[in-house]
Amino acid sequence: MKKILINFAHPAKSHSNINKALRKVVEELDNVTVNDLYANYPDFMIDIKREQALCEAHDIIIFQHPLYWYSTPAIMKEWLDLVLEHGWAYGSEGKALQDKLFFQAISTGGDASTYQKDGYNEFTLAELTSPYQATAKLCNMTWLPPFVVSGVHSGLPKEKVQSHAEAFRRTIIALRDALFDIELAKQQEYLNSDVNRVIRSV
Ligand SMILES: Cc1cc2nc3c(=O)[nH]c(=O)nc-3n(C[C@H](O)[C@H](O)[C@H](O)COP(=O)(O)O)c2cc1C
Repeated sequence: MKKILINFAHPAKSHSNINKALRKVVEELDNVTVNDLYANYPDFMIDIKREQALCEAHDIIIFQHPLYWYSTPAIMKEWLDLVLEHGWAYGSEGKALQDKLFFQAISTGGDASTYQKDGYNEFTLAELTSPYQATAKLCNMTWLPPFVVSGVHSGLPKEKVQSHAEAFRRTIIALRDALFDIELAKQQEYLNSDVNRVIRSV
């Protein structure tokens, strides 16, 4: 079994609908650790050694967050700036993250159609998340496209929230149990574009 670390960042958790729902269905799973960054570091004083030890102890690292200003909530940037040290994460001696899987699980207020070249936001989520792809590459990690739940502003019906949560849970379990086709997933726009295609049955 692979070990999965979910770095969870939501500064207003009590108002969260979708991120709370996704988190709820995976946090009790074996070999899954949810690391709530705003709960652990309300003053942004990130414990670098603790975070590095958590990364070292897991095979798959996920950043779960709502899209804020086309990026992550602030604490995730602070986490990157502090935790990914030269000689640990990158550089000739920095091999701590090598070959670990990385992806983001993102919720967006805007509809999926707005994240297209000819859509309202003009940039795709692949373009907007490219700094994370570049970071993963620098750290010799295997990058996967983001798991995306979009259109949250238009009010997702309960059944849609449930089906996204179920797809997230299935994705996490398949990754953990090595039943996930990583090469196929890399070709999809989103990790959850077609979950049935990338999850192998036993
Ligand atoms: C400060 C802030 C910035 C936001 N920026 C964006 C954005 O750039 N693009 C977008 O689609 N939604 C944006 N949103 C909407 C959130 O992404 C949306 O409310 C969130 O994904 C809903 O998830 P939740 O139910 O877990 O809170 C923003 C919301 C806030 C509060």
